Amino acid sequence: MSRSPLIVRNLSALRRALDGLRVRKASLALVPTMGALHDGHVSLVRLAKRRADKVAVSIFVNPTQFAPTEDFGSYPRTWKEDVAKLAAEKVDLIWHPDAKAMYPDGFATRIVPEGAALAGLEDRYRPQFFGGVATVVAKLFTQCRPDIAVFGEKDYQQLRVVTQLARDLDLGVRVIGSRTVRKRDGLAMSSRNVYLSAEERRAAPTLYKAMKEVAGRLRAGGSIEAAVAGGTELITSAGFVLDYLEVRHAETLAPLASAKDGPWRILVAAKLGKTRLIDNIGA
Ligand code: PAF
Repeated sequence: MSRSPLIVRNLSALRRALDGLRVRKASLALVPTMGALHDGHVSLVRLAKRRADKVAVSIFVNPTQFAPTEDFGSYPRTWKEDVAKLAAEKVDLIWHPDAKAMYPDGFATRIVPEGAALAGLEDRYRPQFFGGVATVVAKLFTQCRPDIAVFGEKDYQQLRVVTQLARDLDLGVRVIGSRTVRKRDGLAMSSRNVYLSAEERRAAPTLYKAMKEVAGRLRAGGSIEAAVAGGTELITSAGFVLDYLEVRHAETLAPLASAKDGPWRILVAAKLGKTRLIDNIGA
């Protein structure tokens, strides 16, 4: 049976709601989202529910992480369906501020993340992205004061950046990564998959296949260069325009000379028509 979560849209209502949830020292998990919820988000919520007494989900399409040329205006917004999904998962609270509540007039402070945020992956193609993410996530953490926060591994560089952010700023939040949820054919769940045409949707799982092929070659002792060349060939011949396909250190995201040099992660970003997809897999 679904139970309506409490929906709050301003800070004073949020504080009152959190005081109510926190009685008897209940632990709180936060799942930050931009809405357009899919099964991947549902799996984050389920993990949060296993790890904490109460679960809050934020839904805020954060303008500061989009470049002017990107899809902020057309980003899918599915409020009613999102609330129904969260009610079915028995989420306790939905934090749904508008842009004015998050960035009031005169807002003038931004966080500038370094480390993994400058790894030369997403940051090369979306230079504004991690500053916007770090700023909004720091605000979400200080507003909601959760004990843990759950982020998807699908946005792997983001996961590394927010983990570092929580640690560096002593925010008292433990960041937990949750495994990527995939369609049966391997395509990672993403709110942006709705942009794909039927033909593009058929080609899209190639990204996952290519990463698995790269992983197989690395496990067999092949060089990173040769493995990436094989993966690149697969991806480009499926019609993608490749931004990057790289093998990096799984924690620092530093480049690796050899797969033996550390736990590795394969990360990819590529465009299919107008849709840009990102994905990654581990060792
Ligand atoms: O991954 C997302 O949905 C967003 O980048 C996040 C973490 C909610 C910040 O706006």
